[in-house]
Amino acid sequence: MNNIVHVLRWMIRIAGLVALGLGLALWNGTGYDLLSIHQGLGFLISAALLLMAVLGFGQRVSPSLLVLALLWGLAVPAVGSLQGRLLPGDGHWIIEVIHLLLGLGAIALSEIIAGRMARTRPLTPGAA
Ligand code: HEM
Repeated sequence: MNNIVHVLRWMIRIAGLVALGLGLALWNGTGYDLLSIHQGLGFLISAALLLMAVLGFGQRVSPSLLVLALLWGLAVPAVGSLQGRLLPGDGHWIIEVIHLLLGLGAIALSEIIAGRMARTRPLTPGAA
């Protein structure tokens, strides 16, 4: 179990760094030919976070943190997919900032959950 979480953690780290770099390039108005790579990495990060959160149940990780991660893992692709259509015009920068924060938050949540799972053992019935 911990091996899977370790792999997911590194997937999110690497994909997150590349997605962030591509996203910042997009923000600068360049790299649009790489948008599909950015989106693919974003979906990968979201799926990895969702899986990590599901695996966290039954381990000594706060269920509310895991539920937050599940909602977050759904919000990242939802906002990302609607990105172009949300608040078009002068207010669009608000969506861009929310999108960036959701991406960074997904990485941060995966670090917190993986860190807690690495430090704890699974709950076993009857364990003290
Ligand atoms: C399924 C997930 C994701 C999808 C579908 C997605 C989609 C997009 C799209 C379509 C844009 C271009 C917006 C435009 O300028 O027209 C964009 C930009 C951007 N993305 Fe993502 N993205 C995802 C995940 C992420 C993640 C995980 C990060 C950070 C780690 C991130 C960071 C950024 C940044 C900084 C920008 C530039 C600012 C902005 O337009 O919001 N994205 N993304």
